Amino acid sequence: MAPTPVIMDVDTGIDDAFALMLAVRHPEVELRAVTCVGGNTGVDQVVANTCYVLDAAGAGEIPLARGASAPLLVLPADAGRFHGGDGLGGFSRQSDRRIDRRPAIELLRHELSAAVATGEPITVVATAPLTNIALLLRAHPEVAAGIERLIFMGGSAGSGNVTAAAEHNVFHDPEAAAITLAAARDLAVPTTMYGLDVFGQVLVDRSDADRLAAYLDPACQLAAALIRARCTLLDVDAITIGDAGTICAVADPEGLTTHPYPVRVETGFGYARGQTTVDRRESPVDRVRLPGHLPPTVVDVAEHVDARGYADLWVRTLLG
Ligand code: RIB
Ligand code: CA
Repeated sequence: MAPTPVIMDVDTGIDDAFALMLAVRHPEVELRAVTCVGGNTGVDQVVANTCYVLDAAGAGEIPLARGASAPLLVLPADAGRFHGGDGLGGFSRQSDRRIDRRPAIELLRHELSAAVATGEPITVVATAPLTNIALLLRAHPEVAAGIERLIFMGGSAGSGNVTAAAEHNVFHDPEAAAITLAAARDLAVPTTMYGLDVFGQVLVDRSDADRLAAYLDPACQLAAALIRARCTLLDVDAITIGDAGTICAVADPEGLTTHPYPVRVETGFGYARGQTTVDRRESPVDRVRLPGHLPPTVVDVAEHVDARGYADLWVRTLLG
């Protein structure tokens, strides 16, 4: 089987870094391009972090572009800096990696238009706020035919993490998430929601960090340092590889169980702003007319994950 072509849209943070390492290293994944967006930290720091992580992972000359620096409408009240001042737990370092002169949506348009022309669609994996993806699909709807599947880390069928209702990536830019889902519906882009229902289950611990630290490989060293630092900071014995689960799902689709549900995003300014409403009712028909009624998008919502299998896949792949 040829490896799956993938473009990643990231806000490199610690778990985005784990996802990038896996995408570079796994033989079933061909990382074609990376685009950056503000989220865990400012977009220029995201670009710097991403360059450094790609260097550590030994990536070749992969096109990398800077995208949106702010959400489409409003910057969220401090969405929290969970990833340390530089977004990478203080481990970010200088990189000489070339950054594409084009803005992110131009790089995305170029790569996906080529995919349309060759008839080889690309899997787009977004592990960040969906600002770039929303702008792309609104400005260039014709590229949707070049997307094999959109897999986004975001949302939740249950509680949130940054608020009781909302998950961080969607909370950071709810309008972008709503526009992305609406465009996916209208342009028939198959979409997987890798949300909080599975996000926190794929865990690595200090013993995994010790195994990684035993290898002088830069990615293993960085991964081990990040695991240890997070465990110490959070006073826990294990941490989630988070975003990296989306790339595990590309490499091992059998490890993720999804179910198609109608999904909407709350873009109001109440307590539920940024909530993804996953409609699990037997007959998901609204019996009342909703204000500003927008049809939902049927999304493949991740419900179960082979947590141990994905954690092992991630560690084994980094260890080579
Ligand atoms: O809610 C988890 C998401 O927020 C992850 O993508 C993490 O990197 C942060 O961006
Ligand atoms: Ca992220």
